[in-house]
Amino acid sequence: MEYKVDPEFEKEIESYCALPIKFDHFVDMPELSDGVVSLSCTLTKMTTPGIPGLPKVPGYYFNISTCNDGVCIGDINLRTGYNEELYYSGNTGYRIYEPYRGHGYAVRACRLLKPILKAHNMEKILITNAHDNHASVRVCEKLGAKFLRTVRVPQWHVLFRENGRDFQNIFEWSMDEVALP
Ligand SMILES: CC(C)(COP(=O)(O)OP(=O)(O)OC[C@H]1O[C@@H](n2cnc3c(N)ncnc32)[C@H](O)[C@@H]1OP(=O)(O)O)[C@@H](O)C(=O)NCCC(=O)NCCS
Repeated sequence: MEYKVDPEFEKEIESYCALPIKFDHFVDMPELSDGVVSLSCTLTKMTTPGIPGLPKVPGYYFNISTCNDGVCIGDINLRTGYNEELYYSGNTGYRIYEPYRGHGYAVRACRLLKPILKAHNMEKILITNAHDNHASVRVCEKLGAKFLRTVRVPQWHVLFRENGRDFQNIFEWSMDEVALP
């Protein structure tokens, strides 16, 4: 399929980079649990971007555990900020270890980030995935995130340089989005 450049694309990046955010400090961690999974914060640090000259953004890193037995089943991070690098790599990255996939845990983990997003006045974030990552696309759909477009990853981006990633799906997840059951 031929890739066409959408004229709205640059405007979209500009408006994403201009989104409001409040950051005075890393928030005191609220309890992040929905009774099925819980998040425990393992690290906070300034992180990304790979673009020289762009400021780093505050990042939160969590383990995801099941509440019934406390087993660590994956991890999730949140990058609080909006810049051109994050447009492509998204504000969050998540992973569920293979034996625990298929139980909707990633969707639950994403939803548990909401209090932190709210604390930083972030009304929406981007979640992005490789264009052929069907499982991650399903996570976005179940969250009620809106598909914006599939973009070609620029050559300066770490996703291209380090992982050879060519096309990336961009989803927008608004805090007021109605999630699917
Ligand atoms: C993407 C990922 C986090 C989804 O986690 P999850 O908790 O298994 O998500 P869900 O249970 O909602 O399943 C999502 C889809 O994964 C697929 N899936 C289901 N069971 C699966 C299994 N045992 N193994 C692999 N994929 C499975 C299905 O397509 C499912 O969609 P469906 O609910 O419509 O059937 C997980 O597959 C993963 O860690 N992948 C590797 C890392 C990654 O790609 N991270 C995303 C980067 S943006």
